[in-house]
Amino acid sequence: MTQEQIELVTESFEKIAPRAEEAAALFYGRLFELDPDLRFLFRGDLGGQGTKLMQMIGVAVRGLGRVDEIIPAVRSLGARHAGYGVEDSHYETVGSALLWTLGQGLGPDFTSETEEAWATAYALLAETMKDAARSSAVAA
Ligand code: HEM
Repeated sequence: MTQEQIELVTESFEKIAPRAEEAAALFYGRLFELDPDLRFLFRGDLGGQGTKLMQMIGVAVRGLGRVDEIIPAVRSLGARHAGYGVEDSHYETVGSALLWTLGQGLGPDFTSETEEAWATAYALLAETMKDAARSSAVAA
């Protein structure tokens, strides 16, 4: 990712972070519309979804400037996700619900450059997580 992309992701995250619950409602609504079966993966109570979503996005945002340092943590996150029942194809659905939510939340601030920056950041994390999930499956 370029420095400019990192800044675009960080700035847009700051705009949306104070509206965590609203963003969460949009995100999960969209996610379950795209794939209703995903409901069964989220077994916890649905309260506090906003916090979870912001935690998830926060992982991406905080680590972007020092990707090498966060790779081990992202890999364990990927292995844990395999344990939650997450499959490779789900990453595409989640990525698309995430980008859609950002578009809704940011409105005109969601420029094509910002969208591309988020897509790049998400792809980086998702590929690392999927790779780790495959390795942990082999090791198990
Ligand atoms: C870049 C991609 C993703 C990131 C950064 C991410 C991040 C996180 C984090 C930080 C947690 C908290 C628990 C933990 O640390 O283990 C979590 C939980 C969870 N994630 Fe993800 N996640 C991603 C993709 C996905 C995908 C593709 C799915 C599939 C639908 C998914 C489903 C879940 C589920 C089911 C939980 C368990 C918590 C619950 O029951 O609500 N995540 N995720």
